Amino acid sequence: MSSLHELLNLQTQPIDESYVEKLTALLKSGIPATYTIEQIAAHEAGQDDVQDTGSNTTPLHTLIRSLPDVFSEKETQIVLKMMDVLFEFGAGWNFLDFENKSPGDLLFERGFCDGNVLYNRIVEAGVSAELLLRKLNDDIEFLDVEQEDKEEEEEIESEVPSSQGSVAAEHAEQHDTAEHQAAYLKADLEYTANALVTKENKDGVMMDWETDIMRLACETMFQHHDATADGPVVLNIGFGMGIIDTFIQDRQPAKHYICEAHPDVLKHMREQGWHEKPNVVILSGRWQETLSKLLDEGSVFFDAIYYDTFSEHYADMLDLYDTIVGLIKPDGVFSFFNGLGADRQVCYDVYKRVVEMDVKNYGMKCDFDTIPLPKNPDWEDVRRSYFSCDRYYHPKIRFA
Ligand SMILES: C[S@@+](CC[C@H](N)C(=O)[O-])C[C@H]1O[C@@H](n2cnc3c(N)ncnc32)[C@H](O)[C@@H]1O
Repeated sequence: MSSLHELLNLQTQPIDESYVEKLTALLKSGIPATYTIEQIAAHEAGQDDVQDTGSNTTPLHTLIRSLPDVFSEKETQIVLKMMDVLFEFGAGWNFLDFENKSPGDLLFERGFCDGNVLYNRIVEAGVSAELLLRKLNDDIEFLDVEQEDKEEEEEIESEVPSSQGSVAAEHAEQHDTAEHQAAYLKADLEYTANALVTKENKDGVMMDWETDIMRLACETMFQHHDATADGPVVLNIGFGMGIIDTFIQDRQPAKHYICEAHPDVLKHMREQGWHEKPNVVILSGRWQETLSKLLDEGSVFFDAIYYDTFSEHYADMLDLYDTIVGLIKPDGVFSFFNGLGADRQVCYDVYKRVVEMDVKNYGMKCDFDTIPLPKNPDWEDVRRSYFSCDRYYHPKIRFA
């Protein structure tokens, strides 16, 4: 056991200023704030190299695991200072320990969430780290992803018959359909009783457990519209199972634009008669192309825009914001399916803040409604779950 982890075991109480002083001294002496129990064990066993077990039990984990059941407000402030010191010396907010838990998970589990200062400190560190990472990767990672996608698209568009066993086609097929849009757009889809999935690897593109979320989202789209005026002009990006579009149709909008990129979904929409509905305009293709065209034409502006696609990432949403601000009316509303970071509550909370900050750059304000999600969705028929939190943060974004 290192002197650092020993100190963070909080053996003596009350937790007072002396802890902060000792912690600062130890870190200043050169012990890394990321020194893990696993590294200590390896060193004690005389190993030079630590086996990468994927488990990193950091000093921050030790501190949080050692918090007594009851501690005073004064002690809370000391623990907060200790967390500040650890972060100042480079502690990570999202390392996973021997139980696959991050420091934020440990606090959340103990009920320290929703406004708790210690939990908020972790969220704050997460937001800073995300923003820093984005700055560092801005020129590199996003460009690489775009370049990779472009190459994939070229491969997909190339007319090489698959019977020739083209290496390029095989390469594209190997790509994860949930991660790579070009691979997704090439994959066959299947509508089941309660979901839309990729046929081969059973990625859940859309599932009907989201129906209440779609109902709420539709509510938001019509919320600010003057009921005495003509119906609003609305845009939904991503048709999927058509759940939200069906709710939107029930509200009789003046015009209902639907943007959809996948050929199988467009075929399904045609079979269901969506192309014939008098107030519906189908924008076939990726929003990146179809909406840019609308923006260039400058002929339509929306009262409400909803975004829910598949196999896209937050970098795509950052691009989307640029388009949205040009297409939405000054009193319009923008919302989206919020699964950002939803595999862990603390990541979900970090992204909630990141969204608030990003839309602020456009003079917009994001309010979230928190909806409890009582029962766990049934993930049996899909490859992996894409939502693990017990609550849903429904975003409503308007010009401030
Ligand atoms: C999660 S589903 C949408 C579900 C929909 N909200 C509903 O209520 O059923 C995502 C949809 O977005 C489409 N999509 C994915 N990427 C897209 C893009 N770049 N542009 C337009 N549509 C896209 C997918 O093909 C899929 O139909």
